[in-house]
Amino acid sequence: MARPTHADIDLDAVIRNIYEIKHHIGNRKICAAVKADAYGHGAAAVSHALNLAGVDLFGVALTEEAVQLRNAGIKKPIILLAPVPEEDIKTMLEFDISACITSFDFAEKYSEQAVKNNKIARAHINIDTGMGRVGLPHHNAVEDILAVKRLPGLGIEGIFTHLAFSEDEETSNVQLAIFNHILSRLKDAGMKLPMLHAANSAATLQIPEAHMQCIRPGLILYGLYPPNIKPNGVELTPVLTLRSKIAFCKKVPAGTKIGYGHTFTTRRESVIATIPVGYHDGYMRQYSNKGEMIVRGRRVPVVGRVCMDQTLLDVTDVPEARVDDEVVVYGQQGGERIGIEEMAKRIDTIPNEVTCAVGARVRRKYISKGQVVGVTPEGSFVPSGGLSEVVANLYADKRATQRQLAQNGAA
Ligand SMILES: Cc1ncc(COP(=O)(O)O)c(C=O)c1O
Repeated sequence: MARPTHADIDLDAVIRNIYEIKHHIGNRKICAAVKADAYGHGAAAVSHALNLAGVDLFGVALTEEAVQLRNAGIKKPIILLAPVPEEDIKTMLEFDISACITSFDFAEKYSEQAVKNNKIARAHINIDTGMGRVGLPHHNAVEDILAVKRLPGLGIEGIFTHLAFSEDEETSNVQLAIFNHILSRLKDAGMKLPMLHAANSAATLQIPEAHMQCIRPGLILYGLYPPNIKPNGVELTPVLTLRSKIAFCKKVPAGTKIGYGHTFTTRRESVIATIPVGYHDGYMRQYSNKGEMIVRGRRVPVVGRVCMDQTLLDVTDVPEARVDDEVVVYGQQGGERIGIEEMAKRIDTIPNEVTCAVGARVRRKYISKGQVVGVTPEGSFVPSGGLSEVVANLYADKRATQRQLAQNGAA
């Protein structure tokens, strides 16, 4: 069974994006945010590509996500960027995952378990400088950090903060000033500062003061620009293309009502095509009468409501359109492109949500050098059939990869 609706994940684009980002940030480390299954792209395969492109650390949101990366063969440091449930501490220690310290209470429990198990508990301390989500509150952060530092068994590898409004330099500079003030007080108190990090994608592109020793981007790894930012010369290549095929096509007279709720009525004799992609695949219902897809190199509008498994297109202006024609939902076909950023804007959301929404039943086909190097079966997170090894082997000869990228004009 090969459902025509699938996502192509271009692993070479991942590598190219890292080279672009490295060129922009200079000699700093990169912690790649690959949480949420690498924003819907597939964490195992994408992380192998990132690893070989020289990323230094990986950031995830759940202990399970970190364990899945370890099981997929990722050996570099992994930080859990969100509070760690107490019951996960043993697993964190077993799999050598860095916890994010967001309270003294957690640090104390983490330290106790480390001592008991004769291990060093890796940690990055998160300071809330204005995000208002998690982290040590900034007004008491110096005292809290000095107290955490005195706990035995902890290996404090980093201190970080997260920017709430990184597209806005003024607000970000206020947060960075608070962060820097705390850091200089810690230094005055005799603390040797570990690795400092603050920059997500938007700050990576446009706030050099946030780069510090390590950046922590997510969205730009996947070739997508955050809304309302200046790219500053960083040329990204989108990684995900969502494709499907026309499953059904019919001619209807003017005045025909289309789909659930009859929200669209044809104004002329029309050809309506049915595409097997719906909101369970992550093609959100908000695209009803708002979305567009590409058929035979031309944009055509979504008509009527997006259903759970199907969406309707008005292909009247593409008279050659036939059943089985390829349809590009996001991405490029011929000279036409539908950007994820553009579609996110249409439904008043961010590109991150669009890629994260691409459903588990949509097969991910991993592409490198024009070849499919693996397919994620429906519903599974870590691909069966050793996809991670396939990807790793494919890039084993890094010099060959670099030559290839140079030939493509990307290195
Ligand atoms: C703590 C933390 N760091 C980094 C990122 C990456 O953000 P972005 O995708 O905007 O680069 C996120 C994403 O939400 C995050 O929560």
